[in-house]
Amino acid sequence: MSRSGRRKFLLAVGATAAAVGLAGGFWWRHRPVYDEYADRGVPAAPYDPAFPNRLALPGADGMFGIVDLPASLTLAAKAVRHASLPPGNPAPLLAYESEHEGRTFLNPILRVRSGTAVGIKFWNALDEESIIHWHGFKVDSNNDGHPHYAVSGGGTYDYQFTVANRAATYWYHPHPHHLTGKQTYLGLAGLFIVEDDDEVRLQLALDLKLGETDIPLLIQDKRLDAEGRPVYAPDAVERVHGYLGDQVLVNFIARPHFAATTRIYRFRIINGSNARVYRLAFMRGGQQIPYYVIGNDGGLLERPYGVAETFLSPAERLDVLLDLRDSRVGEAVTLMSLAFDPMHLESAAKAPAGEASRGHHAGHEAMTSNHAQGILPDGAAIELLKITVTRKTAYDKALPETFTPITPIDVTGARQRVLKLGETKGAWRINGLAYKLRATPIVVKRGSVEIWEIRNAARGMPHPMHVHGFQFQMLERSGSPEQQRSSAVNEKGLSAADLGWKDTLLVWPGETVRLAIDFSHAFLGDQVYMVHCHNLEHEDHGMMLNFKVAA
Ligand code: C2O
Ligand code: CU
Ligand code: CU
Repeated sequence: MSRSGRRKFLLAVGATAAAVGLAGGFWWRHRPVYDEYADRGVPAAPYDPAFPNRLALPGADGMFGIVDLPASLTLAAKAVRHASLPPGNPAPLLAYESEHEGRTFLNPILRVRSGTAVGIKFWNALDEESIIHWHGFKVDSNNDGHPHYAVSGGGTYDYQFTVANRAATYWYHPHPHHLTGKQTYLGLAGLFIVEDDDEVRLQLALDLKLGETDIPLLIQDKRLDAEGRPVYAPDAVERVHGYLGDQVLVNFIARPHFAATTRIYRFRIINGSNARVYRLAFMRGGQQIPYYVIGNDGGLLERPYGVAETFLSPAERLDVLLDLRDSRVGEAVTLMSLAFDPMHLESAAKAPAGEASRGHHAGHEAMTSNHAQGILPDGAAIELLKITVTRKTAYDKALPETFTPITPIDVTGARQRVLKLGETKGAWRINGLAYKLRATPIVVKRGSVEIWEIRNAARGMPHPMHVHGFQFQMLERSGSPEQQRSSAVNEKGLSAADLGWKDTLLVWPGETVRLAIDFSHAFLGDQVYMVHCHNLEHEDHGMMLNFKVAA
């Protein structure tokens, strides 16, 4: 069946299901949405009611279809319906829609060679303000999606920039102040894949193809109503903890499965959740099996690192290899998030008193507050994706031993700056300050190197901290909880996923993380960026500061 044929088929299935009254409740968890694999030539896995839905893969159009840049492109943020969001019935959500070469894309995967000049028009077809941020990109502030450039409904914004980043998986999402969490949650999120010579070498070495053997996994927990529509309604307690879902979608699919052959697969894992942290592991027959971390936010590490598990906090990316060469046909591997201590120790950060009288409580009881019925607690064990080997294949590639050397940032004479994370009057703050659109409490000199020391209060919660405009290098973790320390690969307490170039990092309660940032860039004149927590409820409620890079 052709792709457009399949789409019509899905629409027809959706219509029939609604007609016979199956659309209510959670029936889609037990009905296959996709059942054929003709487009990859891999036989389907036997039906498993626990993973009934085929993983959506990026193709030539539709949701997460691939668009190669440069191309003159308009991304329209708008209300759409999407058939592959469970229950297979086209469900209302928001997406970036784009028409390109006669095809329609939703949240297209933008693929570009490093060094390319791109022009993208944003059209805000929502009824509220918005702006796009290219997460992880080294661009000037005009092109960074700073909230003070947000355009109101009906408005447009033209982006023109040259991609200066290394090859990696970046992403794009809305960034209007107070609305980032809502708009991202309702569906606005896409991937931006940058390629360069190192990347091409890896693709050749392992025979990787995006959408077939190189698989992006956008992981997002959601609450969906009976129509499959994402519901965003954080209460006062959830604004403190972050908004958690009752199920986890991968590429907008609930409980997905993926059929594989006996070879090496690459997964580009993006935590696109508003607030949930994952502890990623692959399981076979109830046992954890090792996998390789080869890259993260800013691209490939110096070499592959064999690991058993890795934390991935909101907005972080992980590039991993799973080696299925020795698997037997019929064997299944499950990607899951292992149980961990979520460390919500924020008893200091209570909801405002007025809210408490409406029946909410701070602390772990938030998980049982009215809104939180059926919510998967933070730190719960969750199965994310079932991978079944359905065919043997001839595959003679081997894992490369090294990638490209990474030059450490020279920190001699670097100025040190402290960012303290904690709670002030019931809200999360950086250095006690709430975000102000036009204030620049941090000023750094263009071309200088600084060491930022991020200290998280012991009575707090984990904060995934993100810096705009630059990729940084992590120097050291100290005061880390055991669940983090146990994955350290060096004497500085860093895990494999902390190495290389990063733009987002998780800071646990009581932990101090030091990182090096080189504020060199090609842009003349003062540039204003942000540093913020990527728990989007924290960000939207002011856990964000502007910083100015003074020319
Ligand atoms: Cu991904 Cu300022 O954000
Ligand atoms: Cu960003
Ligand atoms: Cu936070």
